[in-house]
Amino acid sequence: MPNADVVIIGSGLSALITAERLSETKNVIIITKLEKTNSNSMLAQGGVAAAIGKNDHWRLHLRDTMIAGCEHNSEKAVKELVRSGPSAVKNLIATGMKFDTDRNGTICLGMEGAHGTRRILHAGGDSTGREMVSFLLKRLAGKVQIIEGEMAIELLIKNNVCFGVMTSTLEDHRKVYYASQVVLATGGCGGIYETTSNDLTVTGDGIALAYRAGAELVDLEFIQFHPTMLNTKDGSRVLISEAVRGEGAYLVTSEGRRIMVGVHDLKDLAPRDIVARAIDREVKKGNDVFLNISKILHFKERFPSISMLCEENGVKIEDGFIPVSPGAHFLMGGVKIDLNGQTSVVNLFAVGEVACSGVHGANRLASNSLLESIVFANKLALHILSLPLSHIHIPELLKNMSNSRNEPLTFLPTKEEITSQMMKNAGLIREKKGLKQVRDWLGSFLKKCQLNHIADYHRNQIEIINMLTVSWLIVTSALARTESRGGHFRSDYPHCDNEKWLKKQIVRSKARDNFNRIEHEFVGVKIK
Ligand code: SIN
Repeated sequence: MPNADVVIIGSGLSALITAERLSETKNVIIITKLEKTNSNSMLAQGGVAAAIGKNDHWRLHLRDTMIAGCEHNSEKAVKELVRSGPSAVKNLIATGMKFDTDRNGTICLGMEGAHGTRRILHAGGDSTGREMVSFLLKRLAGKVQIIEGEMAIELLIKNNVCFGVMTSTLEDHRKVYYASQVVLATGGCGGIYETTSNDLTVTGDGIALAYRAGAELVDLEFIQFHPTMLNTKDGSRVLISEAVRGEGAYLVTSEGRRIMVGVHDLKDLAPRDIVARAIDREVKKGNDVFLNISKILHFKERFPSISMLCEENGVKIEDGFIPVSPGAHFLMGGVKIDLNGQTSVVNLFAVGEVACSGVHGANRLASNSLLESIVFANKLALHILSLPLSHIHIPELLKNMSNSRNEPLTFLPTKEEITSQMMKNAGLIREKKGLKQVRDWLGSFLKKCQLNHIADYHRNQIEIINMLTVSWLIVTSALARTESRGGHFRSDYPHCDNEKWLKKQIVRSKARDNFNRIEHEFVGVKIK
């Protein structure tokens, strides 16, 4: 008998919205790696983009999303996002979610990079994600079982049909959950990079699970680096929201030179990939880069979390300058899904950052990810509710339930070694030599791992194997894409800058079709 109708892996916004919609008629279990509040959604400062403003229209939101995405987007997916966005947000408000309003009760709309107009809803100033997650966790209480501290280590698949998931507890014990449908909502993979805005649990597990299960993956080379992470002494993960630039902050060197002037017409509000590379160029010249926030009135009230994080890290808001540099933020590619969240494996679904419907193209537009969670999680839930009841067929007793583990793998690299290699060779700027070098380095470890017997390894080793796997897949994809586009910048190939794309009015990128599916095979490693 199944443990649940639906098992959802992950506890960010996409997971919670899917669970809420399903919980009225389905028995739903959420499984999460650490605590239910460990997710990128919790850390999201910037808000939800939706064309609800008087002078806005979903077509304008569509245009901005496509331009930021370097026209690599699936226009069908973007249309779905931006057309459904306003009503999805209004439904959320109708159920009690509170977004920031002015004194008259009108929702305040903020500005962020590459948006042609103000269309970003915020909650709690700069804690939109936290407010939304808290709101949903309250609504879910008593309706859905949330299991914390369990890491999904293997999807149970027979004949391309998913029927459950095996997990590891914090004590490294194995557990199995059978379900009619399994949903991956594990977030992206920021944790494979040295500098990242992501939660510490986000190490690409969902991508690695899907890969081992034989699911199709797509667009993995497109990694968004957020331009403005606070430079902290201890390397802790602190994002300075793009909304800060939206309210008038601008990037300067220590001599006060504005670095975005002359780089892009939108200056500090250019698409993220362009701003991130401009900062990187300055850093490589030996210049420190700062956000000049002196023009923002009432900064502490408008950005309470950022102010607190700055103070904690010894940066005085009153001085008017925040030292920043780029960090890995968002994976545009992922597990390939259709608009209902269906992956290429039957009964396996994906939603949120782990999934790729093509909605973000080569570079995600700011604040489109929380909107994606709302719109696509609702669609996924409705789709699952429409499926006929299925009796899951549990093919055989699972062999790997023993709680004795292999000896620790002494040859594995440390997490720090992986993140440093990825930052150096497959980060903001890439080129063939470095990519090949890191691909071979990653492959040398993967060849020695028994990926078909993943459950035999210790949980912390599985996490490292997942990081190696996802890194290898990203690097292989980055090598295959011999052009620069959005979040994939090859210094050895010409860059198609966003403005030129707009001027030429190129509607769809042929490259998407050429590279839509890259066959990934580890040399010498057999995957089922
Ligand atoms: C930010 O606040 O800058 C991040 C929001 C996002 O990634 O869309």
